[in-house]
Amino acid sequence: MVPGEKSKSHEVKQKIEEQMLKNHFDRNTKILAVGGGVVGDLAGFVAATYMRGIPYVQIPTTFLAMVDSSIGGKTAINTRYGKNSIGAFWPPKAVLLNMACLQTLSKKHLRNGLIEALKMFLIADKKSFIYAEKNLCAILKGDDAPLKKIICAAIKIKSHIVNQDARDQNIRMSLNFGHTIGHALEFVLEYKILHGIAVAYGILVEAKISVLLDILDAKTYQKIYDVFRQLGITTNFLQKINCNKIIAATKKDKKNSENKVRYILLKTMGDIYKKNGVVAHEVSDRIVKKAFLALSEE
Ligand SMILES: NC(=O)c1ccc[n+]([C@@H]2O[C@H](COP(=O)([O-])OP(=O)(O)OC[C@H]3O[C@@H](n4cnc5c(N)ncnc54)[C@H](O)[C@@H]3O)[C@@H](O)[C@H]2O)c1
Ligand SMILES: [Zn+2]
Repeated sequence: MVPGEKSKSHEVKQKIEEQMLKNHFDRNTKILAVGGGVVGDLAGFVAATYMRGIPYVQIPTTFLAMVDSSIGGKTAINTRYGKNSIGAFWPPKAVLLNMACLQTLSKKHLRNGLIEALKMFLIADKKSFIYAEKNLCAILKGDDAPLKKIICAAIKIKSHIVNQDARDQNIRMSLNFGHTIGHALEFVLEYKILHGIAVAYGILVEAKISVLLDILDAKTYQKIYDVFRQLGITTNFLQKINCNKIIAATKKDKKNSENKVRYILLKTMGDIYKKNGVVAHEVSDRIVKKAFLALSEE
């Protein structure tokens, strides 16, 4: 399997047959998911479906898995029709993490995980966003203390949100900030981009959409962009992307309702825009194109 790429449904079925059923693994089997988000999502999916559900424990070894994918029980595999298209909500019995795993993780993957943590801070925790901004170099160097602080803050936010809406009906969708565009970008680039990096570009586009809709002020957008720029995320990259292809890919997003593409919009640093309590909002293709155009002129 290519790093970062999930298994396809037919491969998973074949492996379950060859390695679990053939070897008589019964209902008392327990799965330990030791690895990054790809391993966690796959092992969780196998646990959710094997014998109609067996227990599993998440042992995340990447920064992204520690701050995000190991929490909340979303499990999935990809199909040719898109990412995470078959899956289940199946919470792990426990999540165990050892910070020492991060010592061998590449800078690229530290940055990848940090972006998901920054996303959580943008939607719910301004203080932690500012802390991360001030400690960016130390975090990327792999210093223990700031990494620990970021991981604890992100886990707190994610578990608080998931506990309110485990099945992704409304508030949990706020964790999808940056992901309508981020997932479309991953699809268009055939998953040759890391998930966190795709989400970073998605955050820039979706924050810009929020500015164009007069929900977010331009100054806050600029502050966010300044932080992402320090992580090597610049709008130059988006100039090379065909925004029509991205818009076409957003039509498959899981937040969509009645064929309308819905976005999480940022109100301010640490808070999202809600209308009558609803967190995902329809945005026209025209505005999305305008945001791409505005970003390519920056
Ligand atoms: N279920 C969820 O809620 C959720 C949330 C966010 C992301 N995801 C998914 O998670 C996946 C991305 O996860 P990821 O970023 O962890 O990628 P990954 O699982 O592909 O891991 C990245 C790379 O790091 C290596 N690795 C793992 N631990 C290591 C360590 N301690 N030291 C050195 N190398 C190590 C892996 O072998 C792999 O090559 C995506 O498929 C994404 O869709 C799921
Ligand atoms: Zn994500």
